[in-house]
Amino acid sequence: MSYEKAKEAADFIRSKYEKEIKVALVLGSGLGAFGDEIENAVRIPYEEIPHFARSTVEGHAGRLILGEVADVSVAVQQGRFHYYEGYEMSQVIFPVRVFGSLGVKSLILTNAAGSVDTDFKQGTLMLIRDHLNLIGINPLRGKNDEHFGARFPDMTEVYSLDYQEIALSVARAMENEKLKAAEARTGIKQEKPRILRRGVYCGLSGPSYETPAEIRMLRLLGADAVGMSTVPEAIVARQMNINVLGISCITNLAAGISDETINHEEVMETGAKVAETFKELLKRIIPKLK
Ligand code: HPA
Repeated sequence: MSYEKAKEAADFIRSKYEKEIKVALVLGSGLGAFGDEIENAVRIPYEEIPHFARSTVEGHAGRLILGEVADVSVAVQQGRFHYYEGYEMSQVIFPVRVFGSLGVKSLILTNAAGSVDTDFKQGTLMLIRDHLNLIGINPLRGKNDEHFGARFPDMTEVYSLDYQEIALSVARAMENEKLKAAEARTGIKQEKPRILRRGVYCGLSGPSYETPAEIRMLRLLGADAVGMSTVPEAIVARQMNINVLGISCITNLAAGISDETINHEEVMETGAKVAETFKELLKRIIPKLK
């Protein structure tokens, strides 16, 4: 059933954009601006795509953008469906099923997250090394359609190690360039900026942010960042043998780490502040994904 639905949606998308899509991206809260970087863009509101749900959260435009980044054909989800909005899990992950039907082999999942690791400050980009699924449900629950993949898919390497290497080497090059530019500008030796750190993302269902006690618990469990998305999409992509790259934008310190309270506006603002670095990073990574 969902296999046919995904095919229908994929056929519709193909009727709007004929090129073969190589990379799909999901833009997280506050990170939607990357959608403006797409060349020869075809924008399709989610309402028009068969079987897509509609996005309701502020800061999510709710459309699929097809076009090119650095000469690579991409499909960009500007706005995602969150479980906390009340969608069924099947609706949350449906776009990823559609990407699979389109033959996409690479998926970049991005999100806004709170830092559990006190070393990751606001504005840090975190490369997701692995995740903890504490959403309370697995997106593959229910009858399995073998068209998509195995009943019990392996999750040893949800986030492609090759892609992690690519992202880190791109980030290191950008760090060196930034350092050189800063030293040339000031004439003073500087500490190298860190553009991308690596860590474990924990997905919770939300929509309330965590309590300080929950954040202490997550730290004990090995989480570095916490958010309300990504994990279901990553699991489903892995089942379909799509290689996943995950990047979190640390928009705030998680609850109890500082005296500050957490609010959605701050999350959106931090996304806007790192937008330039984030765009540059993605533009350089995308043509390298195989
Ligand atoms: N917790 C959960 N989700 C989030 C946070 C947070 O602190 N920041 C952005 N998304």
